Amino acid sequence: MSEKIFVFDTTLRDGEQVPGSQLNTTEKIEVAMMLEAMGVDVIEAGFPISSPGDFSSVQAISKAVSRPTICALTRAIKKDIDVAADALSYAKRGRIHTGIGVSTYHIYDKLKSNPEEIIVRAAEAVSYARKYVEDVEFYAEDAGRADNEYLARVVEAVIRAGATVVNIPDTTGYCLPEEYGRKIKYLMEHVSNIDRAILSTHCHNDLGMATANTIEGVINGARQVEVTINGIGERAGNTSLEEVVMTLRCHKGLGLDTAIDSKLITKASHLVSSLMNMPVQPNKAIVGRNAFAHSSGIHQDGVLKNRENYEIIDPREVGVDESVIALTARSGRAALNHRLELLGYRMEQAELDIIYEKFLKLADSKKDVRDDDLLWLVGDLEAMKNTSLKLKYLQIVTGTLVPTATVTMQFGDHERLVSATGNGPVDAAVNAIKSMINEKVLVNEFLIQAMTKGSDDVGRVHIQVRLKDVVAHGFAAHTDVVRAAIEAFVDALRKLGVTEKEG
Ligand code: KIV
Ligand code: ZN
Repeated sequence: MSEKIFVFDTTLRDGEQVPGSQLNTTEKIEVAMMLEAMGVDVIEAGFPISSPGDFSSVQAISKAVSRPTICALTRAIKKDIDVAADALSYAKRGRIHTGIGVSTYHIYDKLKSNPEEIIVRAAEAVSYARKYVEDVEFYAEDAGRADNEYLARVVEAVIRAGATVVNIPDTTGYCLPEEYGRKIKYLMEHVSNIDRAILSTHCHNDLGMATANTIEGVINGARQVEVTINGIGERAGNTSLEEVVMTLRCHKGLGLDTAIDSKLITKASHLVSSLMNMPVQPNKAIVGRNAFAHSSGIHQDGVLKNRENYEIIDPREVGVDESVIALTARSGRAALNHRLELLGYRMEQAELDIIYEKFLKLADSKKDVRDDDLLWLVGDLEAMKNTSLKLKYLQIVTGTLVPTATVTMQFGDHERLVSATGNGPVDAAVNAIKSMINEKVLVNEFLIQAMTKGSDDVGRVHIQVRLKDVVAHGFAAHTDVVRAAIEAFVDALRKLGVTEKEG
């Protein structure tokens, strides 16, 4: 049985301090409800004295969310604490998070004070907050750079004053993992009343060590982690919730776990990213677009044989349907076949060989080949099987001249070439083909869509062709949209069963 690590999420306070990422109250409630659904223990909802918007958000979240503790930040100032208590008045379980700087930079340069006075102010703030709520968390700002002996005195004083949780922030993201772990261990061993409170980690990511520091913190005795979704936060951000949760899940030997429902991680990540206009870097651990995407042929083959060959997390555990076998020019037949099977196609070896050749050509002209592209390749193969009517060559001259198309069609066992003009390249090629067939057909509808994005994308064409009362739908896709349009037209003609004109 693992020991519980409490998750304190500060996406809506420290995370929301990112310029340009501010949320309105409705959006904050949406995020708070997601955090509640995930099983977060404490939601830091804002800093009520900082603005009327923050005040009303803390109030609204306190009403909307019932299971997690709702926490409000203050400085070690009575007015801040009064306002925070007021904002929390609707919370089922409210926590005031008060604190003051404890490094020499903060004590002398920022607060123009001295170490003894800081201890008094810290303890006073905690006991003042205790008048309003039973749950008071104290933060020792810039503890990462503070002297451990002095820090231990501060921690002991605030616990004596009634703090239930003591937060040891590495405010500037300065610490090395071993150094931060040693700090927590020191406090666990030198604060005489440490059994009356729990220590909390709060690590910033300025040197990319936030998660490592947090993990060292819990290994050495901290029992709460302060985190944000996607690791958002000022500068390089805070420790990311998903990384800590999944590190503890992967390393069961640590005997530590959170109550987070990891299956909601991806959903929460998307929600926060879109509401806060903060794209997630593609290679971000756990929630990046590529976190479970395998592109090298060797890895793809390994994953298909046994997922655990190259994955330490089953993507479904974090709410991702499956690992993505990203089809690129380096993918092998096994990866292609796997993807085709997922799309419902079972290929004979010879068919797979043909598709694979075509796939490699497409993969050379596109960065990654998607499902829609594969459907096109398979459709093309189906078309190739029916050799009665086929587009063989297409040459277009366009620009400032009258658009002219030269088309070679295959009718059964022979080919025929015709040139024609039109009001555009597609019209010219359609006219050329029409002149080769017996039936009078009419193009009813013509739709071109980009399948994904980017100028190297495949364009998908849907064309509707009428022959008397019969309507046929033709589909095709290609990186060359004119070619796709003509292939789609020919596809519809095939379905209508048109025949070659004599002569
Ligand atoms: O980083 C920090 O020190 C903080 C405190 C206000 C908790 O965010
Ligand atoms: Zn912080």
